[in-house]
Amino acid sequence: MRGGPALSLNLSRVSATLMKIGCAGGDDVGRAVVLLAAGLGTRMKSKRHKVLHEVLGKPMLLHLLDELDHLACDQRIVVVGQLREQVQALVGDRADIAVQEQQFGTGDAVRAALPVLRTDIDTVVVLYGDAPLIRHETIQALCDAREEAHAAAAVLVAEVRRPTGLGRVVRAADGGVERIVEEKDASPEEKQIRLINTGIYAFRAEDLRRLIPALTPDNAQGEYYLTDVIRLLREAGERVVAVEAEEDEIASVNDRAQLAEVERILRRRICERWMRDGVTIVDPDRTWIGVDVRIGRDTVIWPGTVLQGRTEIGEDCVIGPNARIRDSRVGDGATVEASVVLESDIGSGSSVGPFAYLRPGSRIGERVKIGDFVEVKNSVIGDDTKVSHLAYVGDADIGARTNIACGVITVNYDGERKHRTVVGSDSFIGCNVNLIAPVTVGDGAYVCAGTTVTDDVPEDGFAIGRPRQTTKPNYVRAWKARRRARLAADLGGSGETRE
Ligand code: UD1
Ligand code: MG
Repeated sequence: MRGGPALSLNLSRVSATLMKIGCAGGDDVGRAVVLLAAGLGTRMKSKRHKVLHEVLGKPMLLHLLDELDHLACDQRIVVVGQLREQVQALVGDRADIAVQEQQFGTGDAVRAALPVLRTDIDTVVVLYGDAPLIRHETIQALCDAREEAHAAAAVLVAEVRRPTGLGRVVRAADGGVERIVEEKDASPEEKQIRLINTGIYAFRAEDLRRLIPALTPDNAQGEYYLTDVIRLLREAGERVVAVEAEEDEIASVNDRAQLAEVERILRRRICERWMRDGVTIVDPDRTWIGVDVRIGRDTVIWPGTVLQGRTEIGEDCVIGPNARIRDSRVGDGATVEASVVLESDIGSGSSVGPFAYLRPGSRIGERVKIGDFVEVKNSVIGDDTKVSHLAYVGDADIGARTNIACGVITVNYDGERKHRTVVGSDSFIGCNVNLIAPVTVGDGAYVCAGTTVTDDVPEDGFAIGRPRQTTKPNYVRAWKARRRARLAADLGGSGETRE
């Protein structure tokens, strides 16, 4: 019995070491990332927590968690406070949660994370939930810089045009960081400094455990400043290195204007990535491509295009102008112009639009034409079929090489339930045909224009169902003559003429 626990202890040590090697990319440092997200973000003026606001269709916090998937990291901690249930629901099991009951400053937020911090963690990276553009390469570079310089901490800094509101970095004689001064505590000379603290750091865990409890709130804001840890480290003779980041990577969101600015930066970054990958984007400033979208080579994206969710566009496609495609797949060589496509599939070589609306569950085959003012919903349309204009195809299965002419309507709803329409292959459905579902039209059938189909039409069958036409020769001439005579009689007494 006594041998059991000892053996399992050894094994768990071995597996912990293996995990570190696998996870931390070869060095034996246990690394944690602490994401601060306790502040509400009052300036957003929102019912939603700030980190839940979306940038390119994805909440800011998820951008960070997804980016951290690419970083060797043994523990993630999200510090929550206000509206914590919203943040926790988004985090799920992707990070440990630390609660900061009241927001007494960034130093206090990291204090809240310390009890959750695993004891085998040596390096702590601090990030903000409202700065979603940071790349894992930059975080890695920050950690590497600290280790290579044998420094206590590394601070990500940036030279910015407008440093207002941000902490200014006072350089040390060795080129590192001497201290960080918050705007509200800064002297007029210090306010001139344009090198700012991004709020992203790599610390030795033991320093945080020791120095965070030593912080005091004796500053202009009465807060516990995490930045004071840097000063305390320097006073103890430690080195603190500065790593410079691009301004575009460290932008943070305090209000909706900054949210739009962060989105603009990311939108541009994503467009550039696809352009480097062989996609032509005619006007990147007017193109919105979500982070999880995939696009094949030699596809051309015209302005006004919005590609959302898990959309996949093939090669050699032409998308836009003015197309919105969400959670859909577009095959190679397809065209989608000025249309809305939601949760649908478009086969290779097909063309959609202008002004078509593909609602969820539309599966369009290859070389299909979906023309102007056509709405398709929850329907399968076979290869080489044409629905060229002004039609509604809902809850239908349409075969291959069939022609659905102008004005065809699947009458799928009886006021209570939806019913399916089935049309075979090589069929012809004429203009203004109503297909009253449930109904089936067989392969090779022909339905004449204006027919209301209530009964099934068999294979190779012909259906016509419209009132018989009555033609009256010379009727109009006689009718007009009668009208003229009546008018003349009405005006007879007055001598006036009127038409
Ligand atoms: C902080 C830095 C400043 C830096 C700036 C960069 C300090 C003292 N100052 O200032 O040097 O230039 O970020 O954006 O650190 N938070 C909590 N709990 C709190 C307070 C804040 O979780 O009690 C979180 C917020 O939700 C936010 C982040 O920490 O994600 C930053 O807080 P914020 O109040 O915006 O810090 P700044 O005053 O901007
Ligand atoms: Mg801030």
